[in-house]
Formats: sequence, C-alpha cells, structure tokens
Amino acid sequence: MGKRFLKASIVLIGILVLVSLGVAFAQQKKVGGGEIKYQAKGSAGPVLYSHDSHVNQHKFKCADCHTKIFKMKREDLKMTKANHNQEKHCGVCHNGKKAFSQTTDADCAKCHKK
Ligand code: HEC
Ligand code: HEC
Ligand code: HEC
Repeated sequence: MGKRFLKASIVLIGILVLVSLGVAFAQQKKVGGGEIKYQAKGSAGPVLYSHDSHVNQHKFKCADCHTKIFKMKREDLKMTKANHNQEKHCGVCHNGKKAFSQTTDADCAKCHKK
C-alpha cells in the first residue's frame, strides 16, 4: 500500500466524518419546542403546531408567545370549540386579524388535519 493511498484514505475518512457530523447536527437542530401535536377531541382532527414556521417564516420571537400566552412547557391548553372565538391561546393571533381565524369554517382545516 503506497503512502499516497494512505493519505487519500485519511482525507476521505475525514470528509465522511465531517459530513455525518453535519447531518447529525442538522437533525438535532429543532426550533424552540419543536413540533407540537394536539390530539383534539371529537371529529375535528389533530392539530400540529410548528415552532419552525412561527419563528422562521412568520418571524415571531420567543417572547411574543412565552410566557404571556403559553408556558414554555407542554400543558393542557384547555382549548374547546367554544373558546375558539376568545383571545386566548392560539386565538390571540388566530382571530382573523393577525392570522387566519379559528371560527371561519373554511379555515378549520388549516389547523385540524384529518
Ligand atoms: C407563536 C407562538 C410561539 C412562539 C413564537 C414560540 N413558541 Fe414555544 N411554544 C408555543 C406553544 C403553543 C407551545 C406548547 C404549549 C402547550 O402546549 O402548553 C410551546 C412550547 C414550547 C416549549 C416546551 C415544549 C415541550 O415539549 O414541553 C419550549 C421549550 C419552547 N416552546 C421554546 C420556545 C423557544 C426557545 C422559542 C423561540 C425560539 C419559542 N418557543 C417560540 C408557542 C410558541
Ligand atoms: C403570536 C401570534 C400567533 C400565535 C399565538 C399562533 N399563531 Fe399560528 N400563525 C400566526 C401567523 C401570523 C401565521 C401566518 C398565517 C396568516 O398570516 O394567516 C400562522 C400560521 C399558522 C398555521 C399555518 C401553517 C404554518 O405553520 O404556517 C398553523 C397551522 C398555525 N398557525 C397554527 C397555530 C396553532 C395551533 C397555534 C396555537 C397552539 C398558533 N398557531 C398560535 C401567528 C400565530
Ligand atoms: C389556529 C389553529 C386552529 C384553528 C384554525 C381551529 N382550531 Fe380547533 N383546535 C385547535 C387546537 C390547538 C385545539 C386544542 C386541541 C387539544 O388541546 O387537544 C382545538 C380543539 C378543537 C376541538 C376539540 C375541543 C375539545 O373540547 O376538546 C374542536 C371540536 C375544534 N377545535 C373545532 C374547530 C373548528 C370547527 C374550527 C373551524 C371553525 C377550528 N377548530 C379551527 C386549533 C385550531
């Protein structure tokens, strides 16, 4: 085995290690509290809340929600269909002004996915 082959192998292994570290890092990098799934009761269908989209796409800061609207830990939000029209929880923004409404029939499926 020549020295050049050995050198080339070491460089190649180095590259592979760096690439796999990069992949592992990218997978770990979740935004804030990550994806939060709510298992809504009844036939409404579960809701997925994305930290990624709210922070990176819609440009909210952590302090816009934490902790004046939501605690920084999972808890029962006690959201019911009846309080969808109140300025609480998601409804602080999802009121048809700051973001699509929680009481417009055409918009239910933007949150509730079957
Ligand atoms: C648009 C609102 C919003 C913004 C902005 C936001 N969060 Fe959250 N966050 C939530 C909601 C909703 C929950 C879940 C609360 C619940 O279920 O009680 C949550 C929960 C969390 C949790 C707990 C997750 C768990 O599984 O216990 C952490 C940690 C967290 N957020 C961190 C952050 C950080 C850090 C940022 C800024 C980078 C951020 N959040 C920005 C809405 C937001
Ligand atoms: C601080 C304001 C704010 C809060 C609180 C908030 N949202 Fe949003 N959300 C937005 C804005 C702004 C958009 C962009 C859509 C629009 O402009 O109508 C959005 C978009 C979404 C979308 C569309 C897909 C996406 O991810 O962009 C979903 C689904 C959603 N929100 C779910 C929720 C849920 C569920 C909660 C409560 C757990 C919540 N949001 C709380 C502001 C907020
Ligand atoms: C901005 C996102 C969003 C929109 C839009 C939305 N919902 Fe919800 N809804 C939620 C979340 C979050 C919960 C709470 C789930 C949980 O805590 O398990 C919920 C819960 C519910 C529940 C279960 C209530 C209970 O007692 O457990 C029903 C029924 C429901 N929604 C119906 C609707 C209908 C009908 C519409 C449209 C008119 C709608 N939702 C629009 C986010 C939304």
